[in-house]
Amino acid sequence: MSTITPVGQRFSSELTTLATLVDSERPGWTRRALSEFDIAGRDYARTLMKQAGLQTRVDGAGNVIGVLPGRLGGREIMLGSHTDTVDGGGRFDGITGVLGAIEVVRLLRENDIRLDHDLVIVVFFNEEPNDFGFFCVGSRAMTGLVDRTTLAATDTSGRSLAEALPDSGIDPEAFLDARYDFSKVTAFLELHIEQGPELERMGRQIGVVETITGINHFKALFTGRQDHAGTTPMDVRADAGCAAAGTVLAVESIAESGTNTRGTSGQIQFTPEAVNVVSANASVEGEFRGPEGSWLNEAQRRLTDAANQNADKRGVHVEMEWTTDDAPVPLHEPITSTIAEVADELGHSRATMFSGAGHDAGIIAAKTQVGMIFVPSHDGRSHCPEEFTELDDIVPGIEVLLQTVLRLDGATGSGATARSGGAQSR
Ligand code: GLV
Ligand code: MN
Ligand code: MN
Repeated sequence: MSTITPVGQRFSSELTTLATLVDSERPGWTRRALSEFDIAGRDYARTLMKQAGLQTRVDGAGNVIGVLPGRLGGREIMLGSHTDTVDGGGRFDGITGVLGAIEVVRLLRENDIRLDHDLVIVVFFNEEPNDFGFFCVGSRAMTGLVDRTTLAATDTSGRSLAEALPDSGIDPEAFLDARYDFSKVTAFLELHIEQGPELERMGRQIGVVETITGINHFKALFTGRQDHAGTTPMDVRADAGCAAAGTVLAVESIAESGTNTRGTSGQIQFTPEAVNVVSANASVEGEFRGPEGSWLNEAQRRLTDAANQNADKRGVHVEMEWTTDDAPVPLHEPITSTIAEVADELGHSRATMFSGAGHDAGIIAAKTQVGMIFVPSHDGRSHCPEEFTELDDIVPGIEVLLQTVLRLDGATGSGATARSGGAQSR
């Protein structure tokens, strides 16, 4: 295997520039999808893609797509990740995979390596949950998983996704029509930070992802009765807030019942939200995650029961909706074993991993063979400003990404060709 070393300094300076394209009024690094900052982030990524020599376009769903034409044409290897963040997020989630993929393009061109396959880089639109109850929006549009119900979903102000998309330059009809032709894509790879503590704990450099977690999002709306907090006896109240609080605790205890299972109630709202008023309404939005579909189905059933019980015993009405029902996704063995072999040959220590985070790769896996490469997260922190990965930990991930592309290109074509001199050590 020829050694081609990524230029870490390029990655660092691009990471630093992206970190300036954020909402400075929010904590951490905030570049939420459907914001002006997200548009700026995807524009910047497109500029880098063009500078790297890719032919770029933006599809109907806001995904930035860049192509490095291959020698044979007609077949593609796709790499991608996202540049949007959660509110108060970090600098590395998604961005590592985008900048890493662009670095792979530069390394191929600088080393005069022409793949047989077209190499397609995608910056997916809106990977993180938006205010309309969806995540991995761009990859879902590419794989045909969006419809008019998606467009009709509303945020808390009653605005629909169809109304919000044009502000990001996305036409709702084009959004519905953004399916990608995956019949020509032989493999998809996503480089990502681990976002958890396992690699660091084990002292390993590379995570080879075997399964991406299933994710089930719920929204529970409780309707009780607004009353005076001082004069209304406890036994005649219909306190929507208490029913919601009981449901939050049920999420926690259900999640504690499995292996690698998680439950989070990340959004809760009481109305009218006054210290001396019994809540008339309450909403809880949250999620379960886990590696087994059967556990997730059982968790859904148990939480729906718990919400009903918490509501019934207080004379509160509840409406429970499961807004996302993504099953766990096993990644494809030929790709994961190639990543593992490549890591071994490069001398990078590795571990097989379960991903507790969701990824566009999990959506794309329905359409083509997918692999994910993880690099360590400092202290396992992510979705927070402290999210951090050393450059020295990222560079091996880019090396594995590049060499996996070369290996996959060779496995299904006649192999990458060097136009002049071949791959060099740098
Ligand atoms: C995406 O970052 C998720 O796992 O929620
Ligand atoms: Mn994330
Ligand atoms: Mn991510």
